[in-house]
Amino acid sequence: MKIVNVVGARPNFMKIAPIMEQFERSRGIEPLLVHTGQHYDEKMSDLFFRQLGIPQPDINLEVGSASHAVQTAEIMKAFEAVVLEHKPDVVLVVGDVNSTIACGLVAVKLGVKLVHIEAGLRSFDRSMPEEINRVLTDSISDLLFCTEQSGVDNLLREGIPKGKIFLVGNVMIDTLLKNKAKAATSNVLSQFNLDGNDFAVLTLHRPANVDDVIAFGRVLDALEIIQNDMPVIFPIHPRTRKNLSSWSLGERIKKLPNLRLTDPLGYLDFLKLMSSARIVLTDSGGIQEETTIFKIPCLTLRENTERPITVEIGSNTVVGTDTDKIIETYQQAANGDWCKPQIPLLWDGHAAERIVKIISDKL
Ligand code: UD1
Repeated sequence: MKIVNVVGARPNFMKIAPIMEQFERSRGIEPLLVHTGQHYDEKMSDLFFRQLGIPQPDINLEVGSASHAVQTAEIMKAFEAVVLEHKPDVVLVVGDVNSTIACGLVAVKLGVKLVHIEAGLRSFDRSMPEEINRVLTDSISDLLFCTEQSGVDNLLREGIPKGKIFLVGNVMIDTLLKNKAKAATSNVLSQFNLDGNDFAVLTLHRPANVDDVIAFGRVLDALEIIQNDMPVIFPIHPRTRKNLSSWSLGERIKKLPNLRLTDPLGYLDFLKLMSSARIVLTDSGGIQEETTIFKIPCLTLRENTERPITVEIGSNTVVGTDTDKIIETYQQAANGDWCKPQIPLLWDGHAAERIVKIISDKL
């Protein structure tokens, strides 16, 4: 069985790593790895391949950044040629980025079976580009692998046949558990002169936060108070950096000595930083899951989450971008007034094994 696996943007790399590893071990499966080039900076892409031991992509479509329509269309054009040339039996896509839906659509239009990993997650917020990508990809997939029960329930509600849906756990957590010990040896804390865990980590890259100067300003009002209390380390996404440089808020940040901006970090350094922090503030999806494993209080700076299990039993709280709410929740977390988190079902490091077995049996 020839399987073309697709990656495009940073969070895809952690998800594909354990799948590729299992495919390499499986007899009868010939995996091919295609990188769309949606992310291309060394620190957003190559570094992750090296650190996670992902084989070099067999093909790089080198599509790069553009508007949603242009990026999606360019990926589709280039990927169609790949599918026509290599004639795979299956195309496998992960997550919810533009590369996911673009390649999924190409596969099904050419009559190739489609597998979606991390299916069924729903924020129910159609203004998020990722939500559109999720709903559309799920509606055309042949096998749908879910990380949590809410994903299964959402898919059933949308009329996806039960036989196509599998609750298997979380491949991103497979990667975390595999790399935890290696990450522990990172010297990232000394790079930032951090001693102990009296610091917070911040990431922000969602368009709703970083393309909107008013929302960003509200978050910054809260950060101004928080950084008086403890250092806040802020590895900054290229999208966020670009916007800040064109706003006066960029100047305001420079005046906050304890809000420490840095380039995007590699996987191992970020894992070490996050696992050592007192508190994490983020609008990322994956970080809500990773902090759940580390049992670190996570304040999600969004109005909703597509990963409700991290709130129901994990260490996550959705706080939005209201300044007072962020500060109040931060203070609760800093005072240790937080829930006792548990680990979600099947987030045990073996999701990829389950997925590859099901693919081998069913397709
Ligand atoms: C994309 C995903 C988002 C995911 C995020 C993780 C979509 C719709 N969005 O958002 O779901 O959470 O990746 O990072 O697919 N840029 C660089 N270097 C790069 C990549 C991007 O400088 O290697 C800059 C470019 O200016 C680009 C901007 O970042 O225009 C945004 O990149 P893009 O891939 O369009 O979306 P992300 O915001 O990264």
